[in-house]
Amino acid sequence: MTKQKKPIYVCQSCGYQAVKWLGRCPDCGEWNSMVEELVKSERKGKTASAMSQPQTIDAISLATEMRLKTGMVEFDRTLGGGVVPGSLVLIGGDPGIGKSTLILQVLNRLSQQSCRALYLSGEESPQQIKLRAERLSVHSEGLYIMTGTCIEDFFEKMAPIKPDIVAVDSIQTVYTNDMTSAPGSVGQVREVAARLMTFAKQSGVPIFLIGHVTKEGAIAGPKVLEHLVDTVLYFEGDKGHVFRILRSVKNRFGPTNEIGVFEMKDTGLEEVCNPSRIFLEERPQDAPGSIVIPCIEGTRPVLVEIQALVGPSPLGMPRRTAIGVDHNRISLLVAVLGKRIGMELGDQDIFVNVAGGLKVDEPAADLGIVSAMMSSFLNRPVDRNLVVFGEVGLAGEIRGVSQPDLRIREARKLGFSRCLLSRNNFEGANSPGDMELGGVESIQELYELLFK
Ligand code: TYD
Ligand code: MG
Repeated sequence: MTKQKKPIYVCQSCGYQAVKWLGRCPDCGEWNSMVEELVKSERKGKTASAMSQPQTIDAISLATEMRLKTGMVEFDRTLGGGVVPGSLVLIGGDPGIGKSTLILQVLNRLSQQSCRALYLSGEESPQQIKLRAERLSVHSEGLYIMTGTCIEDFFEKMAPIKPDIVAVDSIQTVYTNDMTSAPGSVGQVREVAARLMTFAKQSGVPIFLIGHVTKEGAIAGPKVLEHLVDTVLYFEGDKGHVFRILRSVKNRFGPTNEIGVFEMKDTGLEEVCNPSRIFLEERPQDAPGSIVIPCIEGTRPVLVEIQALVGPSPLGMPRRTAIGVDHNRISLLVAVLGKRIGMELGDQDIFVNVAGGLKVDEPAADLGIVSAMMSSFLNRPVDRNLVVFGEVGLAGEIRGVSQPDLRIREARKLGFSRCLLSRNNFEGANSPGDMELGGVESIQELYELLFK
């Protein structure tokens, strides 16, 4: 190994390392993201002691996994059935979405089951935490609060408490003295997380890391953390709405894409045990122009309701308003409807809206938009247990989209029982028994299936 006296430059967006400063990261293409990082002292042989003796796979006994159950069903399920001892769990989300609230409630639940829980906050004072705890009615003998940002300090002061579970809020505020770069930089985040990882694996204490998400949607100091930790959960939702979704995007101990749904109330987060309620409750009963589509947000499937209102226009130049979907896509689909099935919407005002304030920019939404427009124009509702997805081509053909199984599973999870998709996707789809699938080849066929 070479002695590293020279600084290295690390991209704060993707973790790419270079020996000289670059204006643009060659890996992720981000501008001005390279930051100098210096490692003060090199770790020597620390990891060697953790190396196990080689043994045959048959010799390893299958210890029955003792998972810690928080008692919050949605949370436990997202983790794959509870907290695994010695695991490192990253919870990411936008600022203000409710991560601190969630973790405080989780620690409270655990500490009430004679667990000693330790909450390290690098962002808030003990008083601020107490204020939140009062609001959440958190009272527990076994819940310890620490504030500070130095990881060496933390390990020293934590030792006498001997916690059974630890949460660090947030990983971006904590730093190690061994590096000169600022807290929150890729190097710091990675180093601190690695130390916590070592501690978790050696002691068997599970650790939750809270991480902020950057504008681009990645956890700041991002991919570098995702591969290090055992489990990555995203806490997401629209701040204007009360619902929050906790989603596992990586899990070494359970399935991914598992979701837990919560409602943010005055007194904290409350579990929503039947998530389809979110969509069904606010969704108008059998209203024409409303349909639900499963779309993929990054790696995450999300169900959204598309609404359309189509009516005769009093104007010479009819209105086309699109909220949450691409305006040009609407024009294209209107043209396809006119040409392929003779449904002329040229003299109609058309409003398309994605309920809940979400933005959908993938072609898979086409089938939903078309269905909603037809439904509104004909003034006939579609089956409320139906979801549709697929891309619509200019010839009126329905094209396959990526990850049909993921979409179908998500729809099923949220209580839908029927799904229309492209013939292509239909043939490749792995249907979960109780979901009725229908493959459609053209917009004409869709029209007949929905309204004849
Ligand atoms: P917080 O947990 O501080 O978010 P994060 O740690 O992700 O930044 O939650 C912040 C928001 O949650 C804040 O806008 C207030 C709201 N909130 C409630 O609505 N009810 C509550 O009981 C609490 C504690 C917070
Ligand atoms: Mg917080």
